[in-house]
Amino acid sequence: MTTSNTAPSDWINQVPPALPDTALFHPHRLWLRDNPEKTASRGQKVTEETAGATGLPRLRAGRLGEVRRRESSLTARGRNAVARRCIVGALANDALALEEIDALYGDSHVLHRVSFHLGEGRLLGLLGRNGAGKSTSINVTVGLLPPRHGTVAVYGTAVAGRTPEAIAALGVALVPQGRRVFRSLTVRENLVVAGRRPRGDLPMLWTLESVSELFPRLRERSRQIAGSLSGGEQQMLAIGRALMSNPRVLLMDEPSEGLAPQIVAEVMATIRRLKAQGLSIVLVEQNAKLVFDVADDIVVLNSGRVVVEGPAAELSRRGLDLRQHLGIY
Ligand SMILES: Nc1ncnc2c1ncn2[C@@H]1O[C@H](COP(=O)(O)OP(=O)(O)O)[C@@H](O)[C@H]1O
Ligand SMILES: [Mg+2]
Repeated sequence: MTTSNTAPSDWINQVPPALPDTALFHPHRLWLRDNPEKTASRGQKVTEETAGATGLPRLRAGRLGEVRRRESSLTARGRNAVARRCIVGALANDALALEEIDALYGDSHVLHRVSFHLGEGRLLGLLGRNGAGKSTSINVTVGLLPPRHGTVAVYGTAVAGRTPEAIAALGVALVPQGRRVFRSLTVRENLVVAGRRPRGDLPMLWTLESVSELFPRLRERSRQIAGSLSGGEQQMLAIGRALMSNPRVLLMDEPSEGLAPQIVAEVMATIRRLKAQGLSIVLVEQNAKLVFDVADDIVVLNSGRVVVEGPAAELSRRGLDLRQHLGIY
């Protein structure tokens, strides 16, 4: 990597050579494009062709729910074969996989066998009413709350029990609920302290320069104390700060909370853009409409359990009534 010997102040300000606006923009995808022979061996993407070449089963990124539905029509032998393929498929294709997670705060049992998968380059909408366990799922994912039971995998690497720093180093970034910017630091300082090189020899896409291009308002306010920004500007700063770590997986916990409709639309447009660029995203929301507009897959939590899961298009087509799960009557 050409930037490996530059001082931090240089690489923070470095502009990526080209900033394409469309797909294949995400560092991980660019790396795969330049290293096609690694496609299957790194376990990141298994296509029909690469599956044959590596001996991996010819099963597309099987979502557990789909597989379970298909399972019901199989014999026991067939079910075992599907289960084996599913495990390999999940490890090979998922940016993030939570499996059978139980989580407690003290004696309070909050998550009950929660499982969901985020496919690479996909956007998973995690819905549920207040107190359903959405943020707790995120806390478990980023290592703030070790699960009592179950596994968390980031690109096939088991991370449950690791520190938040170790999990962040694998390329997982969080935009926390309530933004939680460093209020006494300037906008620029908030961004600079979060700067991190991407893993391995992936290109560094997110710098002060490219984040400022994404959010021109942050550039205008770069010397302003973050605590004096509006709610919308703080949300942009929280997203920009997460991007500065050059993540492969972005977790966003209720980014629309407390924002005016016009600002929510801006935030959603940004999320769309990041998704188009290939980032794998979990979007936590209480607002189902916002999520269905942008998500590939949906998981609904209720009282710490997964009560609905499936592709967003399929759930929409089925006209699923989510009101009882989301507390809308
Ligand atoms: N730090 C904590 N200590 C104890 N209980 C908590 C804590 N954080 C959340 N809870 C409880 O866990 C449950 C799930 O909360 P949370 O995951 O924050 O829900 P959501 O993000 O879906 O609104 C709620 O009953 C909440 O009161
Ligand atoms: Mg929450």
